[in-house]
Amino acid sequence: MTAARKRRLARLGIDVWVQRDVAAAAGTAAERDATATAVVPETAVAPNPPTRPPAAAASGAVVPAPPVAVAPAPDLPTVAGPGAVIAAAPIGAFGDWAPLEAAVAACTRCGLCATRTQTVFGTGARDAPLMIVGEGPGADEDASGLPFVGRAGKLLDEMLASIGHSRERNVFIANVVKCRPPANRDPATDEAEACRPYLEAQIALIQPKLIVALGRIAAQRLLATDQPLARLRGPLHHYGPGQTPLLVTYHPAYLLRSPREKAKSWQDLKGIWQRINGVPG
Ligand code: URA
Ligand code: SF4
Repeated sequence: MTAARKRRLARLGIDVWVQRDVAAAAGTAAERDATATAVVPETAVAPNPPTRPPAAAASGAVVPAPPVAVAPAPDLPTVAGPGAVIAAAPIGAFGDWAPLEAAVAACTRCGLCATRTQTVFGTGARDAPLMIVGEGPGADEDASGLPFVGRAGKLLDEMLASIGHSRERNVFIANVVKCRPPANRDPATDEAEACRPYLEAQIALIQPKLIVALGRIAAQRLLATDQPLARLRGPLHHYGPGQTPLLVTYHPAYLLRSPREKAKSWQDLKGIWQRINGVPG
């Protein structure tokens, strides 16, 4: 494990569990054992804990590839079956990335267009196995045109790095609404509905293995429910015409305000890692 990674984990509040890195995975059995014996902190017990952390998996019969060595996304199977499901997705209205981006940039489908500086389309790998969906751009995102660039974005990057993912390599990050709600209010349901075809088109193009909704508002708008986060977090949901698997976890902005919840967030991250890597939870 590199010093940088240790620092990252420490910032996440993860000081006991040790992420296997490439060196450890390629190293001696003793090195692997050393990482495999590390355990999740006692305090990390969540209401719906996955049965084992990624590192602990190395001590069992199944030794999955370490997170940093995830197979290239182009080899991934598609989530939706052949034919009909994808054909039914709204991608038909846009065709490909360029017309979709142009449509979003010029969009006036809801009132948020009046107050935005610019649209925030989303960013990342367009063949990503993992898609992260937040609620909507904030001030920093409205100014830069990129999602999750503020403090919450920095923590999100740390969370992703802890499971071997990054927006440069194998994650696509987007929001339920592509324009900033004034004064950072929650996006309304009609705004989310107006913007939904863009998100569904992004999903149809990317065909991620898993969508992760960040926080209550993103989860409620995506799943068209008013259930509390405590209910939405834990079970596997499915989203959209392709019925893409979807998990809900805490919003990093919430974790910045409530660092004690980071242990539960870490449980969720392990579940995300397991699902993407096909490790039974
Ligand atoms: N919070 C979100 O939900 N999305 C962003 O892009 C930034 C902060
Ligand atoms: Fe269009 Fe979505 Fe922006 Fe509303 S939030 S104006 S639907 S891009």
